[in-house]
Amino acid sequence: MKRLLRWAGLGLASLVTVVLCATLGAFAASELMIRRSYPKAQVRIVAAAEPQAVARGRRLAVLNGCHDCHGEAFEGRLFHDEMPLLRAWGPNLTLAAAEQTDADLDRAIRKGVAADGHTLWVMPSEAFARLTDAEAADLLAYIRSFPVTGERQPRLQVGPMGRVGVLLGKFDSAPAMLKKEGAVQLPFVGPEHEAGRDVARTCIECHGPALEGREILKAPDLAIAASYDLADFETLMRTGVAAGGREVGLMSGASRTRFHALSAAEVKALHDYLRARADKVL
Ligand code: HEC
Ligand code: HEC
Repeated sequence: MKRLLRWAGLGLASLVTVVLCATLGAFAASELMIRRSYPKAQVRIVAAAEPQAVARGRRLAVLNGCHDCHGEAFEGRLFHDEMPLLRAWGPNLTLAAAEQTDADLDRAIRKGVAADGHTLWVMPSEAFARLTDAEAADLLAYIRSFPVTGERQPRLQVGPMGRVGVLLGKFDSAPAMLKKEGAVQLPFVGPEHEAGRDVARTCIECHGPALEGREILKAPDLAIAASYDLADFETLMRTGVAAGGREVGLMSGASRTRFHALSAAEVKALHDYLRARADKVL
């Protein structure tokens, strides 16, 4: 009996060792993936200098949600706290701007690689890669118009569930997403819808590169917009209230902080584009 117990004890000890090693191994592997650095692509860009550039940049920053994650004064903020998955702070962009060149900032924004070469996670560079050079220059002028404020923010913390997601390929870094999605174009549905297609770039972050939906955010295919008449669509975009008076999570938030900045003509062009796209994909 004693011997049996000893064997059982040994079995348990080796099981614990195996589990411990596997956990450590998985942690190390996910850490390597998270910390991976990328070669710095050559970027040539300078912040726009005309007086109107800052105003144009502000509009782009609002529409693309820069303040949602980086704070009202770009001081940075904790914007997502969902342990054991992830705790994410948007870095302080006023410090980044003081320490980095225009090319460094642009590389972070449109390529997802930080000034020190580290891979950005959660920062939606795969969507911002669609900004034109002129738009990026305006955005830089706007970021540089802020005085240095606030503290340095902590780096992203990835919890055990987040690490499993990284290992299983459910979560990708910004450059990895860009590699997958960079070549995907928003569907072309005729020259008369190019203005609306242009506005639809601001939906890519959550609804995917062809607006086919993103499962991870539970954001649907935007064919759903075809079931909206213009008045209801305008209400959703301006107030965040969806058809039938519903609150729709992230979408309601994005409408309130971002899409109120669209003009009536832009909302209509977007609606027309989404309806034409729905006719094509459905
Ligand atoms: C969904 C949240 C989110 C949005 C929206 C977002 N960012 Fe970020 N951004 C982040 C996070 C998180 C990081 C840091 C990621 C890391 O280090 O892994 C980051 C990093 C950056 C960096 C690098 C900062 C540094 O300290 O080197 C810049 C520059 C930047 N973002 C600019 C922007 C701009 C401009 C916009 C709007 C066009 C924007 N971000 C929108 C989350 C976001
Ligand atoms: C920050 C993320 C985010 C962005 C950016 C975003 N959406 Fe959404 N959207 C969502 C999510 C998540 C849902 C699903 C919400 C739910 O059902 O609770 C959604 C749902 C919708 C719906 C369906 C609402 C319903 O009736 O259930 C429409 C229409 C929509 N989005 C349009 C847009 C358009 C147009 C844009 C670009 C201008 C856009 N969204 C940008 C996250 C986003």
